[in-house]
Amino acid sequence: MKILLIGSGGREHALAWKLQQSPLCEQLICAPGNGGIGEIADLADIDITDNQAIIDFAKSEAIDFVVIGPEIPLANGIIDALSALGIACFGPTMDAAMLESSKAFTKDFCTRHDIPTAGYDVFTNIGDAQKYIQETPPPYVIKADGLAAGKGVVIAQDKESAAQELEEFFSGKFGDAGTCVVIEEFLTGPEISFFAVADGKTALALGHAQDHKRAFDGDTGPNTGGMGAYSPVPGFDQDSMIMEQIIKPTVRGMAQEGAPFSGILFAGLMMTETGPKLIEYNVRFGDPECQVLMQRLDCDLLQLMVDACHGRLAQSPPIVWNDICVVNIVLAANGYPGAYEKGGEIKGVETANLREGVQVFHAGTQRSDDGKLRAIGGRVLNITARGKTLEQALNKAYSALVDDINWSGGFYRRDIAHLAMNNKKNNGDDNNEKDNENI
Ligand code: AMP
Ligand code: GLY
Repeated sequence: MKILLIGSGGREHALAWKLQQSPLCEQLICAPGNGGIGEIADLADIDITDNQAIIDFAKSEAIDFVVIGPEIPLANGIIDALSALGIACFGPTMDAAMLESSKAFTKDFCTRHDIPTAGYDVFTNIGDAQKYIQETPPPYVIKADGLAAGKGVVIAQDKESAAQELEEFFSGKFGDAGTCVVIEEFLTGPEISFFAVADGKTALALGHAQDHKRAFDGDTGPNTGGMGAYSPVPGFDQDSMIMEQIIKPTVRGMAQEGAPFSGILFAGLMMTETGPKLIEYNVRFGDPECQVLMQRLDCDLLQLMVDACHGRLAQSPPIVWNDICVVNIVLAANGYPGAYEKGGEIKGVETANLREGVQVFHAGTQRSDDGKLRAIGGRVLNITARGKTLEQALNKAYSALVDDINWSGGFYRRDIAHLAMNNKKNNGDDNNEKDNENI
């Protein structure tokens, strides 16, 4: 099969790496890709926000199967457009992608289908939202309804800052995405990213990972797309509960409502004292979570995606996972998630990749005409490492990053997996039962 993969992040590098291992994959083209993907696939310079450009390319190249990495083409209806032309593809339709593209839709959907989530109200005018703030005690979780690149959520600790934030949301801080606002109950507990693959009727678990959303150590600083991830979380055994309480009712509910969900369903969950609660849905793999999951997946990803596309997941062979721990450390450009410099040269990626168990996935990199690898994005490299234990994987990833990678323009978190490592210290290395309680 000739495959077209859409996207350019660490997620897409990991997907490309895994898709290439499939015996079904004869040629892989990635659009637009990055410096690392260019080493294992052909690249095509397509504007991925332009459905027609993707379609024209798929037709002219006689692509057999299209895999969509990021959310924007999905929210733009690329799956509907490709399917209408008979081009096989993996991902949800525009209506099903509403689970990510409208938080208000998802909250109301959860209410209709009894899916546990934070209490909420939806506001389309600032007066009602301000009145709600005055009548309700803090803290306030304020969310833009639409897509805002992971930055459309603000947690305000008092009435004054909430009122100020609402002014900014309604006066266009997030464009149209912020003219409808969801205000949610504040939940506490560890967060888990949970993944499933669905074909409209059947959902299969793809397991969990833990991300680190804040830019700096100790979970401080601004929210980012994710600064590092690990999987599995030691002692975490609630995958099947999440499937039963959250994923399966969602897939059933979307089918009942006439928008069957096919593709990757990514639930952002808060593990509260009263059980898992949904804080957001995404309709694609998480990044960096995808990278650690792809290192653990021990079966044919492309076959699984083709089965999902054709509605035959119920007949798919069981999904197999290897028995290792994987971590991922993101190396981001100074200034990210705000403004950052581009163009600096990066050295040492090849050396890091030679280490046993280490795989560097690229995000914002480009191979320039002089053959040098240059940083061109906010998140630039992802140092991923496998180990028998989480500690081993962490040591390998940090050693490769510190000793091999040579780039002066970046920063990274030094405390990836700190929750799991602290639990381990507090509970004694071998006490899995207590690890369980804490997560
Ligand atoms: P989201 O983009 O909806 O995942 O939100 C970004 C981050 O805001 C999450 O990863 C949480 O850390 C935090 N957050 C979102 N919703 C809530 C909530 N209801 N209570 C507490 N924190 C939240
Ligand atoms: N790492 C979270 C996301 O991809 O949305």
